[in-house]
Amino acid sequence: NEEIEWWDYEDAEEMAEAVAGDIQFIIESAIDARGAAVVALAGGKTPLPIYAILSEAKLDWKRVTIIPGDERIVPLGDPLSNVTALAKTFLPKGARVMPIVPTATADYKAAGRSADALMQDLHWPLDLCLLGVGGDGHTASIFPGPDFDEALNGPKERRALGVMPDPLPPEAPVARVTLSRAAIVSSASVMIAVTGAAKKKVIEDAISQGAGSTYPIGRVLADTELPVDIHWAP
Ligand code: 6PG
Repeated sequence: NEEIEWWDYEDAEEMAEAVAGDIQFIIESAIDARGAAVVALAGGKTPLPIYAILSEAKLDWKRVTIIPGDERIVPLGDPLSNVTALAKTFLPKGARVMPIVPTATADYKAAGRSADALMQDLHWPLDLCLLGVGGDGHTASIFPGPDFDEALNGPKERRALGVMPDPLPPEAPVARVTLSRAAIVSSASVMIAVTGAAKKKVIEDAISQGAGSTYPIGRVLADTELPVDIHWAP
């Protein structure tokens, strides 16, 4: 994929400033173009400084819809919930922050179907998909497990699905709902924000491995001429 571009920064603060500025630009462009913006923002900890800066931007927030790019299947308000962190930051600014897992359910596939139905009603493609990457090379909640192939190679119109990672990731050992690969690579803009040498190496290896990558991020980025900006800080 010739369209992958690395953007390296001195530190995480510099990256946060730059990425927040890029996201603001994408949102403003969508609002100029059609009066609204729909963005999928990554969960996890890396993007939190980005969101803190972005939330201070002078934007017409009521025209912005934010969804988590993936969600742990836990009750709303649970500290593991990605949408809870986004809601705390962006609801006070007037943005529309949408849970993609309305209620905790043991049936993760049903949760995935309801998330997909919800996303079928959103303007598509997404204006932005901001991704993180785990140390094991997962992105969004595309993890090895029984639903791995469906997340990567399911029907093009599938926007979200429920997944059961195997093994369960220690930081959040629960079933998930995730954007599908098709949803990610159809986005108007895809950005990755990661820190640390280990994750940089995982992504570099994943890209060089291509479609047969042992890392989910490699499988997501392979076989697409999607322009992807990878933002990295030590
Ligand atoms: C999630 C995230 C996930 C995250 C990576 C990296 O729900 O866990 O969406 O894909 O981006 O796990 O997380 P950190 O930024 O916390 O390392």
